Amino acid sequence: MVPVESWWQTAVVYQVYIRSFADGNGDGIGDVAGLRDRLPYLARLGVDAIWINPWYPSPMADAGYDVSDYREIEPVYGTLAEAHRLIAEAHEAGIRVLLDIVPNHSSDHHAWFTAALADEPDARQRYHFRPGRGADGELPPNDWRSVFGGQAWTRVADGDWYLHLFAPGQPDLNWENPEVRAEFEDVLAFWFDKGVDGFRIDVAHGLVKADGLPDGGTGDDTAPTLVQHNASHPAWDQDGVHDVYRGWREVANRYAPERIFIAEAWVPSNERLARYLRPDELHTAFQFDFLRAPWRADVLQEVVDEAIAVAATVGAPPTWVLSNHDVTRTVTRYSRSQPEHLIETDWERARWSKETPDYEAGLRRARAAALVQLALPGTAYVYQGEELGLEEVEDLPDEVRQDPMWEQSGFTDVGRDGCRVPLPWADDVAPYGFSLSKDVQTWLPQPPHWPSKTAEAQDGDPHSTLNLYRDALSARAAIWVDSGDLEWIATTPEVAAFRRGRAQCWVNTGEIPVDLPADAEVVLASVPGTGTQLPPDSAVWLIAGA
Ligand code: NOJ
Ligand code: CA
Repeated sequence: MVPVESWWQTAVVYQVYIRSFADGNGDGIGDVAGLRDRLPYLARLGVDAIWINPWYPSPMADAGYDVSDYREIEPVYGTLAEAHRLIAEAHEAGIRVLLDIVPNHSSDHHAWFTAALADEPDARQRYHFRPGRGADGELPPNDWRSVFGGQAWTRVADGDWYLHLFAPGQPDLNWENPEVRAEFEDVLAFWFDKGVDGFRIDVAHGLVKADGLPDGGTGDDTAPTLVQHNASHPAWDQDGVHDVYRGWREVANRYAPERIFIAEAWVPSNERLARYLRPDELHTAFQFDFLRAPWRADVLQEVVDEAIAVAATVGAPPTWVLSNHDVTRTVTRYSRSQPEHLIETDWERARWSKETPDYEAGLRRARAAALVQLALPGTAYVYQGEELGLEEVEDLPDEVRQDPMWEQSGFTDVGRDGCRVPLPWADDVAPYGFSLSKDVQTWLPQPPHWPSKTAEAQDGDPHSTLNLYRDALSARAAIWVDSGDLEWIATTPEVAAFRRGRAQCWVNTGEIPVDLPADAEVVLASVPGTGTQLPPDSAVWLIAGA
């Protein structure tokens, strides 16, 4: 096992999707003021850090992942002065602050892109501008597809095309240009100087493209997500990207206390992922196979084993995620039939909506999965609302949808709005305490059946999901954090059980109860009252020989 020396090796990080966390000024959109107000909630929950999704000025072509100024705060969210106060107050509450950096692309409203469109000398060199193919340049320069659907190129007025692996409002930056590299190192230092503890790196595997931008040969109808996962594709996971992160690590290493990075890198294997975690590169990287695992003990076990083994090869902590702002919420993912293989998140969305969800089963499983996640060695990310047991809102009216995926997929993929609906805090009707104003329409509408899901409703109920998370986070610190390597305990196929020292975690993904070891004491159970037997769809933490 990697010896635990630093907070980030075992941290529980809470993901704040700022637009939907809490609204401090009554306009129906989350903001910095709302987040500051709710810091005591996060401290009471027991998280070690927060990761805030992009809060920079943005035209919101992709919910803030289209940044027009990397050194400012989006006015709808607040000001730089408020951001300073937030960082200081979080630190006072014992919570570290991670930001989201978006280096693969800027917004098309960024000053650099405006200059590129105006064709100022050399300005196009900061992006990927190319002449088109075909007799009149009417065809895009290569066959790459956007992750959101459609082609990855848009033509500008003078006939050239620019590359965007995501929305047209997100032109890809050219990382072969030293000016781009210098600029982002400076942006990192700007925020580190303000006390920020680290960054989640958006599309960390995308920055560097293969020389000459050759065709990928994947054809028009290939699912863009699959292309993103494909190492042999010239748009993704190119070896040259590691040089960028060696430079970033040098910037971080100039600071004390430690500043850290977490990579969002959708690469096809854990071996490829480990390359981002070499000692002179990034500290951690999300291991998405856990999030993609169906509710099956055997698959969970395989995924856990592989993630731990691969992280160990580079001395990094494994990093567990059950959901985030890009995928269907955990309760809903577990509320329908479970495939035998890892889930391709976008594809499942279309299939799932045709099956009636069983939310009770989904919630039971999500609660159990949380206990598994929080018992594993390494670090864990909790996406806001997981601690309230929220489901995906699948019935948003089409006219309120904001995710560019909806339009770019030709209205075939509803996209990710359903996991981004503003949080319910209190009260029996929308906006459920999300906003200062009771009459406001939140930026995405909240469902009428959320009164029992609010933080307030769950606060006093000892068996609520909120209190399960609170109990789990405090017990985690006591029994798991220093407990050592994971060892599997032999059980039946539908059960996975492991021990780390004297602590054990058991999970039952089957349909019949199973006996628990007689010489162990229950510390925490996802089904209240669990004693000698572990019910279906549940998990338990035990201390052996107590
Ligand atoms: C990954 C982010 O998590 C997602 O929300 C965004 O759309 C893409 N990167 C593009 O920035
Ligand atoms: Ca607001």
